This record gives sequence, C-alpha cells and structure tokens, in this order.
Amino acid sequence: MKDKTKSLQSLDTLFIRTYGCQMNEYDSGRMADIMKQAYGLRLVALPEDADVILMNTCSVREKAEEKVYSELGRYRKLKLKRPDMIIGVGGCVGQQEGERIQKRAPYVDLVFGPQTYHRLPEMVKQIRRERVHLTQVEMPEIEKFDHLPKHQGQGVAGCVTIMEGCDKFCTFCVVPYTRGPELSRPVADILSECRQLLADGVVEISLLGQNVNGYRGVGPDDEEWDFTMLLYAVAKLDGLKRLRFTTSHPMEMTSELCQAFAEIPQLMPYLHLPVQSGSDAMLKAMHRGHDRDTYLRQIEELREYCPDIALSSDFIVGYPGESDADFEDTLDLARRVGYDSAYCFKYSPRPGTPAAHAEDNVPEAVKDERLQRLLTLMREQSREAMQRQLGRTVEVLVEKAGRNEGDMEGRTADYRIVHFRGSARQIGQVMPVRIVETYGQSLRGELILAGD
Ligand code: SAH
Ligand code: SF4
Ligand code: F3S
Repeated sequence: MKDKTKSLQSLDTLFIRTYGCQMNEYDSGRMADIMKQAYGLRLVALPEDADVILMNTCSVREKAEEKVYSELGRYRKLKLKRPDMIIGVGGCVGQQEGERIQKRAPYVDLVFGPQTYHRLPEMVKQIRRERVHLTQVEMPEIEKFDHLPKHQGQGVAGCVTIMEGCDKFCTFCVVPYTRGPELSRPVADILSECRQLLADGVVEISLLGQNVNGYRGVGPDDEEWDFTMLLYAVAKLDGLKRLRFTTSHPMEMTSELCQAFAEIPQLMPYLHLPVQSGSDAMLKAMHRGHDRDTYLRQIEELREYCPDIALSSDFIVGYPGESDADFEDTLDLARRVGYDSAYCFKYSPRPGTPAAHAEDNVPEAVKDERLQRLLTLMREQSREAMQRQLGRTVEVLVEKAGRNEGDMEGRTADYRIVHFRGSARQIGQVMPVRIVETYGQSLRGELILAGD
C-alpha cells in the first residue's frame, strides 16, 4: 500500500465563516494568514469550494449552539461528497462545547478555542496524517500572538487586538468563560503590528479588546502602561491618520481617557460605551460595577472634551427581575444621553453564567414589547443624528468603490458611511465632503474639490 501521507490530496482552499464580535473578525483574519503561510491556502467565498472549512463561532446570545449545529449540517453534506475535506469549529462555542461538538457532529475533525488557533497548521497536519479528531480548548498562558505570522494590512482600515479576555464577570455574560482572563499584549508588540499595517497602506487603526480601557501591558520601559498611554504612543506612529478603539467599559473610563479625545488629533470622535441598563437596581444585579449617575457624568465629561462625540451602547432588556420602572429608567437614560446608535438585546440565559441560575422571569411578550420601545427610541435618535449631518462639510476617509458605478464609499470621523461621486485614486485620502442626503444607515455627499 502507498504511504498514507503521499495519497493525501493537496490542500488549496479555505473557507471561514465568522460570527460574533470584532475580536472574532480579527482572529479569522489571522487564521487565514496562518493557513496561508503554512499551506498556501487561498480564501474562497463558498464552503463548497473549500478543502478546509473553519467556523469561528460566538456564544454570547441565545441559540448560538443551535446555529452552529445547523450550519454544520450543511457542511456534513459537502463532506459526504468529499471525505478529505477538513471541518473545524473554533471560537467561543468551540471553547464552551469542546468535545460535545464531535459527539453530536462526528464529522467535525477539529474543535479549538480562541486561544489555540495559532496551532492550526500543526493540528491540521496531525488530522491528515493520523486521521484523528482533535479538540484543543485549553487556555495556555503563552501568547498566541507570538506565533502568528506578519499581519498583512488589507485596505485602508485595519484592526489590532491589544488584549484578550475579560475579568469583569457581568452576571449574564459568557465571555469571561470563553475568552479567559484579561491578558494585555506588550506595548512594543502592539506598536510593531500597527507599523506593519501602516507599511501595507493602512491609515486607520482600531484597537480591539472586550475592555480595551482595562488594558495594562508592559511598556518599553518595563513599567505597566495603561490604555491612555498606549493610545498616545500609537497616535505618534508615522502614517496613522485615524485611530479608534472598541469596546470600553464604563468602570474604567478615566478622565485621562476622556481628555485624550481632545488631545489626540488622530483619535476619532466616536465611542461605544455599553451601559446595558439605566436602572441602578439592574446595574447592580448585573455586576456592572457602576451606577447610572456615574455613567451620565462620564458622558458629560466626554462631551466637555469632545462636544461632537458620537456615542453608541449595548442594552439588555428583560434581565431577571426587571420591572416596568427599571425599564423606564433605561429609556430615560437613553434619552438623556442621546445615542447615535445602539445594539439592543433581549436577555437570554447563557449556560454557565451566574444569571442563568436566576429565574428568567420577565415574560417573553414583555421582553418583546420593551425591546420594540427601546428600538423605536433608538431609531428616532439615529434619524435625528443623521438629519443633523445635512449641509455639513465633513472629513471623509475614502475606503473603497461604492456599489454604484462612479461612487466611492468612506467614513466620517464619527463613523458614518458616506457615498459620493469620486475616483479610486482617492482611496486612503481624507477629503472634505458636503452632506446632501440621508438614507437609513448612511449618507450621500458631494466632494468639495480645491477651488469650490
Ligand atoms: N465587552 C463588551 C461587550 C461584550 S458582549 C461590554 O462589556 O460591553 C456584547 C453585548 O452582548 C453585551 O454588551 C450585551 O449587551 C450583550 N449580551 C451579552 N450577554 C447577553 C445575554 N446573556 N443576553 C442578552 N444579551 C447579552
Ligand atoms: Fe461580558 Fe461584562 Fe466582560 Fe463585557 S465586561 S465581556 S459584558 S463580562
Ligand atoms: Fe461572541 Fe466570543 Fe466575541 S462569545 S461576542 S465571539 S468574545
């Protein structure tokens, strides 16, 4: 019989399906980089064209596992036709479910967590050689980042993960369990990854983490640096036009960080600062670590330093014990802040979280109604914020060609999408655009050319 390894088909193509937060988006990009380096794999748009299928999953909200299994059912059919295909499940569902996934879906070759994907090439090799199924969901202390290839910048905007995990343990949330404890990358590593992106033509960088303002990493001086110090250092990098970050936690919103919005010209006036609820009783029950007044004062301070800052938030309605009065407090807080946008969710118990032990006692119909009321308010606020843009001249970073012929697409400083007539030569430049029309989620503008 022929040597088993020789009879293996070559691996050429990779398909990655990504769910969840921006950290997962970042991780999927890095998985593609690492598989490209190890196997020369090329990304394809359809699972049926792939030799390797990876799912990068999210377990933050309800039915996460069910969605994964139903998607896997589709991949199973592909694998029946092409048994050499490799199917892997990574990310937060991978981390939480571990071997249960292969028990229920035995055609899955590989289960891995967010901290082990740097070992993908090794794992794939072993699967092909030994025809085994693997599960790697431990959380090694080592930095996966040390084992990743060069981060290639694609396009105008890029992301850099600066820390992993979460230590906040909000009672409803799985993230501390799926991502592990907060671990901050050293400043030098972050700066070096940012420089790589800038060298590839990226001009806007977003720093990522579940709680970026909880960042505490080793600085080049061997001292502990906090997030604001890191921001000032990144802002100094040559070629960086725009700097953003997400997500921040109200508990660690320092005055220095608010002030950075006034002092760092590259730092864009947009902040996602999730509050979850406007009721003190709910904030306490959720273990958020701050009350409503503290949050409102932070917003005030931010606006003193940066009057035009656009704000967004996450909200949960129907947390166990939420009364009508609690929910009214949420609406009231949202009105006082005046958000530009918000993500609103109905509470769903997540296995393994403390809140899952409490009775999920807000009836579904009440959750639905509260969600609709909050969404209606948020839509009004977004629409008003968009209307205020009309007639303004704003700075737009040109990112790519728009959907319509001759259109370009870019983003304003406060992260709104703008379409305008322009040319591909403008990609990567920041240009003045007069806003002439608003659509639901985006704007139309006219480029102001020199001499106009
Ligand atoms: N680290 C970020 C967000 C993490 S998860 C933060 O602290 O804000 C993203 C959002 O999902 C949360 O802000 C929350 O609004 C929502 N979420 C998390 N767990 C949830 C649950 N069990 N039910 C409903 N929404 C949830
Ligand atoms: Fe989840 Fe809270 Fe951590 Fe955000 S801060 S990831 S909501 S535990
Ligand atoms: Fe989801 Fe994990 Fe991100 S649970 S939100 S993919 S950290």
